[in-house]
Amino acid sequence: MRRSPPQPRRSDKSRRTVSIVATGSYVPERILTNRELEQIVDTTDEWIRTRTGIRERRIAAPDEATSDMATKAALAAMKQAAVKAEEIDLIIVATVTPDMFFPATACWVQKKLGAVGAACFDVSAACSGYLYAMEIAQQFISTHVYNVVLIIGADKLSSIVNWSDRNTCVLFGDGAGAAILRNRGASHGVVATHMGSDGEFAEILFMPGGGSRYPITSENIGQQLNTIKMQGKETYKQAVTAMSDAADRALEAAGLRYDDIACVIPHQANMRIIEAIAHRMNLPMEKFYVNLEKYGNTSAAAVAIALDEAHRSGRFKIGDYILLVVFGGGLTWASSVIQW
Ligand code: ACO
Repeated sequence: MRRSPPQPRRSDKSRRTVSIVATGSYVPERILTNRELEQIVDTTDEWIRTRTGIRERRIAAPDEATSDMATKAALAAMKQAAVKAEEIDLIIVATVTPDMFFPATACWVQKKLGAVGAACFDVSAACSGYLYAMEIAQQFISTHVYNVVLIIGADKLSSIVNWSDRNTCVLFGDGAGAAILRNRGASHGVVATHMGSDGEFAEILFMPGGGSRYPITSENIGQQLNTIKMQGKETYKQAVTAMSDAADRALEAAGLRYDDIACVIPHQANMRIIEAIAHRMNLPMEKFYVNLEKYGNTSAAAVAIALDEAHRSGRFKIGDYILLVVFGGGLTWASSVIQW
């Protein structure tokens, strides 16, 4: 098991319990099927389905940016929570495909929502970003700094995919998921979270270009440095280990066993990765919420959309323990146990 920083203690009585009071999500209308991808790169529907479980993914319109999708997901969550824009104290957007380098995508969302009283920033933790944002929100609310926090996981990966690289272009899609967190006064809420990172493996999954290392120049664009690079097999291996370890640690911090969990919502990257962690947890696949066949891997949005769909479809009820577990570029990973 990797060495990890000390995890926050939740035993301090002055801390408030933090609940997810509402969720929302949005996916673009355009569906890109595996069959259509057969026309774009040398692949087959059968290869994609058997290696990943993905059947189709959503692709945002050319004029639809990450903040547009994020705002729609946020509005759905705000409606469910009956929270007005002016009540939001903090907006955190987890994304690796911000509208632009600055201002933060969270600021664009603030403008679209009219959330005039909110502080806003983005979190960059690739596919783990949504749980990183949730833990940041949890810390701010439990320590009485803020009352109402909007977190969003949103990505337009179609804008950074190399559409001539069959190793990666079949895996990803676009979308957004959101949640409103606040202190609900009851004991239910985020019970324990584990977060970790390992920069040693930064180069197995990354987009080298566009930043200060390889700025936007015609030469760098010519080398397609502004697109996702991935070592698939190594990523797969790391994902299984990191997610299993993260889940173990969050569960241990919560003082629970896998049998206590009603529903596991994992990062939606690859069905084989999910089956491998289910095997390690000794849990049946029925306990896992999976929607990757419809959306592919939407990075920070993936677990956020899955949580919203699982919540709205009644996959768990009040009082149930659920386990969220994610993994992404960085490397980064995180896991949260929540009593709904
Ligand atoms: N269609 C057809 N053939 C393909 C395709 C494709 N789309 N992609 C790769 N292949 C070929 C390869 O070129 C290779 O051919 P070769 O043997 O002639 O060289 C062959 O298929 C096998 O390739 P592998 O990489 O060995 O295939 P593998 O079984 O490992 O599956 C996959 C590849 C699906 C990418 C797998 O490694 C994986 O899922 N890795 C994790 C990826 C992931 O989840 N990334 C994101 C996680 S973190 C985040 O979300 C940001």
